[in-house]
Amino acid sequence: MKQKQLLETAELLKKSGFLNPEIGIVLGTGLGKLVDEILIEKEILYTEIPHFPEATVQFHSGKLIYGTLSGKKVVVMSGRFHLYEGYNLWEVTYGIRTMHALGIKTLLISNAAGAINLNYKKGDVMLINDHLNLQGNSPLAFKEAANFGNIFVDMFEPYSEKINSKLKEIAKHNNIQLHQGVYACVLGPQLETKAEYRILQILEADAVGMSTVPEVIVAKQLNIACAAISILTDECNPSNLKPINIKEIIEIASKAEPKIITLFKSLIADL
Ligand code: HPA
Repeated sequence: MKQKQLLETAELLKKSGFLNPEIGIVLGTGLGKLVDEILIEKEILYTEIPHFPEATVQFHSGKLIYGTLSGKKVVVMSGRFHLYEGYNLWEVTYGIRTMHALGIKTLLISNAAGAINLNYKKGDVMLINDHLNLQGNSPLAFKEAANFGNIFVDMFEPYSEKINSKLKEIAKHNNIQLHQGVYACVLGPQLETKAEYRILQILEADAVGMSTVPEVIVAKQLNIACAAISILTDECNPSNLKPINIKEIIEIASKAEPKIITLFKSLIADL
């Protein structure tokens, strides 16, 4: 059933011209401007893709885009699905399985996250080198999951060391301070309490957010190489916590977005 749905989704997209993308990109909250750098050939609203979940959060444009970036064919999810929006994890990761069915070999992810590591400041960017899945669920925990590959996926290297070294080099070359660290993925949508931030510090998380981890787990089941970068939009200091609102988070993400654009564009040229 699920396999058939996915085939139908991929078939429609291929017919619409989404042909042989090498790289998939997921754009996070407040991170839409990378799209302006793409020589767009095709774009389709999520609502027009068969079996695709419908985007609900209004600040997501909810489009799948196909075109050329840095000389490579890419497919971009502009707007992602979160567990906190009420989707299940099959729906949250449907876009990743779709991009795999189209042929991607590499997945690049961006997100907005809170800084747990207090040496990291808002507006900084962090390369994710490991993660904590704190959502209490897995996108591979469903009856048909084994039809799509091994479900006992090796999490030895969820984030490609090879791609991460390239990104570090690119950052250095472009004078971008690129932190590294562990991303903790929570359900949300509420932000964390001071007590919860303290727990995340004890767990040695460097950043916290509500996305990315299910996407990476599915990508690993499908043998896709992954890299992910967080824009740190707020400092989660339990001893000096300031009120924050989602509008401010999005603004800070947008301001820092040029760094992600430089990193992804140079990386893609080099892949
Ligand atoms: N928690 C705290 N701060 C954040 C988050 C989060 O999940 N995402 C972006 N800033």
